[in-house]
Amino acid sequence: MSTRLPVIRFATELRKTVQQWRRRGQKVALVPTMGGLHDGHLSLIRLAKKHANRVVVSVFVNPTQFAPHEDYDSYPRNEERDWHKLLSVQPDVMYAPEVDEIYPHDFATRVEVAGLTQTLEGISRPHFFAGVTTVVAKLFLQCLPDVAVFGEKDYQQLLVIKRMVKDLAFPITILPGPTVREGDSLAMSSRNAYLDARERSVAPQLYAVLRDVAVDLASGRPVRESLTQGKVRLESAGFRIDYLEVRDSDTLLPIETIEHARARLLAAVYLGKVRLIDNVEVA
Ligand code: PAJ
Repeated sequence: MSTRLPVIRFATELRKTVQQWRRRGQKVALVPTMGGLHDGHLSLIRLAKKHANRVVVSVFVNPTQFAPHEDYDSYPRNEERDWHKLLSVQPDVMYAPEVDEIYPHDFATRVEVAGLTQTLEGISRPHFFAGVTTVVAKLFLQCLPDVAVFGEKDYQQLLVIKRMVKDLAFPITILPGPTVREGDSLAMSSRNAYLDARERSVAPQLYAVLRDVAVDLASGRPVRESLTQGKVRLESAGFRIDYLEVRDSDTLLPIETIEHARARLLAAVYLGKVRLIDNVEVA
């Protein structure tokens, strides 16, 4: 690999590099990822470049956010491919630590946000958010960025990270990046690679239904009625529904009526064994 995009494996080296930038008065952004990079990830890096002079992209498949039955072992890992993909958007560093650089054998700490994590994704994946907040807290401290970018694709994750940053007073600004979609509107995701051809042809229906339900809700149709119709459509398209919910955009608390609320419509569905999530603003 050439030096056009240095790969850093150790936190001490990352810190030294970031410190040198800061001494020159440069602003630093971190974009955390688990690799399997696609144009959604790249859009976050482009956004980071607008808000900082230097951009670090971390690529780390975080074991603690996967349950034992989930896809940690099969998660798409291809560092060389990711590195080449990154060249097109030119971040300054790819930080790709080994597992023991993040979790040494005697690692014993967990960072956990209560409340916000105990609904939606947190119900189906009870260990997920503690894994995410623990690794993101560690990445923040290893890198010490001024800003960090997270995608709205994982809307609840974005809110959980914002909450952690506020509660623990991390001096880091969290920037949200809009969801990037394929030509047929399926939200880009590293896990889309798991879909077979038939599932892939059904998958864009998720966004189509979300968009229609959001329009219904915005036009004043009652919440329960709109959601019921959305669920029927999802099921008849071939999805198994984990949840389809309309929630307050900031607190994720349930809302009965859309009036005067900032609302978000969020869904998780299965196509065969593949779990897809997506969400839209109700405006
Ligand atoms: P990963 O799924 O690789 O996603 C990394 C970042 O890319 C997240 O902020 C996610 O919301 C964003 N992203 C994913 N798909 C996107 C899309 N289609 N459009 C825009 N942004 C998108 O999320 C994680 O990794 C991990 O939980 C992580 C935060 C790195 C902690 O391990």
